[in-house]
Amino acid sequence: PQDVGILALEIYFPAQYVEQNELEEFDGVSQGKYTIGLGQQKMGFCSDREDINSLCLTVVQRLMERNQVSYQDVGRLEVGTETVIDKSKSVKTVLMQLFEDSGNTSIEGVDTTNACYGGTSALFNSLNWIESSAWDGRYAIVVAGDIAVYATGNARCTGGAGAVAMLLGSHAPLVFDRGLRSTHMQHVYDFYKPDMSSEYPVVDGKLSIQCYLGALDRCYQTYCQKAEACLKQENLGSHFSLDSSAFFAFHTPYCKLVQKSLARLMLNDFLRDPDAGANPKYSGLEAVRGVKLEDTYFDRDVEKAVMVASQSLYKEKTEPTLSVAKQVGNMYTPSLYGGLASILGSYSCSELAGKRVTLFSYGSGLASSMFSLHFSEDASPGSQLERVCLSLCDLQERLDSRKKMPPADFDKMMKLREETHHKAPYTPVGDVEALFPGTWYLTEVDSKHRRKYERK
Ligand code: ACO
Repeated sequence: PQDVGILALEIYFPAQYVEQNELEEFDGVSQGKYTIGLGQQKMGFCSDREDINSLCLTVVQRLMERNQVSYQDVGRLEVGTETVIDKSKSVKTVLMQLFEDSGNTSIEGVDTTNACYGGTSALFNSLNWIESSAWDGRYAIVVAGDIAVYATGNARCTGGAGAVAMLLGSHAPLVFDRGLRSTHMQHVYDFYKPDMSSEYPVVDGKLSIQCYLGALDRCYQTYCQKAEACLKQENLGSHFSLDSSAFFAFHTPYCKLVQKSLARLMLNDFLRDPDAGANPKYSGLEAVRGVKLEDTYFDRDVEKAVMVASQSLYKEKTEPTLSVAKQVGNMYTPSLYGGLASILGSYSCSELAGKRVTLFSYGSGLASSMFSLHFSEDASPGSQLERVCLSLCDLQERLDSRKKMPPADFDKMMKLREETHHKAPYTPVGDVEALFPGTWYLTEVDSKHRRKYERK
């Protein structure tokens, strides 16, 4: 199949949020810590009416309806999540409810879990399926969804919640670059969820940042090597750098780390370019020449120099990927794909045509990959690229239509979720009126832990 990639993309986030500057005051931290220090504006959160099943039901049905896809035309459906409410039964099997009326039960794929990386693994599996002998010509759907919540303390403000669903197939307007995947995996305890009775992770914040930046270096180096081999083949020169892609999107635990990540790629570019000294784009970095990447994760001087040098590239290539992350928070598995939605929601299709997006996916523990896609050249009226862009042009409007909740209510809701997590039987008490129309919500958990849902 030709041009394998994304035909349509749908995003769902909860209809309520807490303002980060109000949360600063509520938490008693210094003003600016969450908003300037971490770069976050708002954080979406769910009541006890929503769980991972309902988030994924909502986003998949929205994808199907808004793109008028027939349930019979789907041959693979796969979910990436780290929000586990059942150790055996996958979210995918719950989603099969949506396919019941169509009679289509012939759908491959189950769930994939490793922190924020599950969605990417599900995506790779589905792309591989389409490129394999097992493919029967039908669509694949990849869903990434999570409810990201932390115990009270310094990590709580980096939560979020949401889901992204992607329709994959051939002749797509967002085409994945073949042969351009790099991966770094490693055993480390930076963030993990050993307590089966709690929604909260055990997290070593500083170690997780170091692991993230280290994984980014490793993936970028291999990605550059592979990209350069391709460029040579196509006689396009032989050097890959930040200039070679229009956008760089990253898994986004919080937005400041992403700005540091783009800066980090510039540091990589500078260190691997023998002619860097003569190049004005690296001015200000002379003192950094010769540093070892692994010595610089928390080096303030190096960080400051590359943050300044990469400022304008950040504004051009990465800031446009952050509108969802800034306003919803870290959604875990969908975070990176929220970056893609942000791009599609911010530009017209003619501005995007032919451009490339390089993506970095990171899941603690750890699993990480860098890969890329490009938009089709055809942005004419009625083109597939136009359809994808139009489907996301109301993204900011949807974000703005959410309801702001006081931090005290957010705190109460977190306590309620804590107390009732895994309780059976249980009847949720959260306000159904507060949900967006079309949202699936939990109506009951019976004494055997079986969950029932309805759609608003
Ligand atoms: N005004 C402006 N900036 C401020 C202020 C202020 N009043 N106060 C603090 N800051 C800055 C700090 O200088 C720091 O920025 P810098 O690192 O660029 O210097 C930033 O705000 C954060 O402050 P810290 O004191 O470092 O924050 P803390 O240690 O309390 O927690 C952390 C931050 C580690 C990110 C925590 O929220 C956390 O553990 N989050 C979850 C883990 C995470 O997201 N890891 C990332 C990758 S793994 C993943 O995706 C889950």
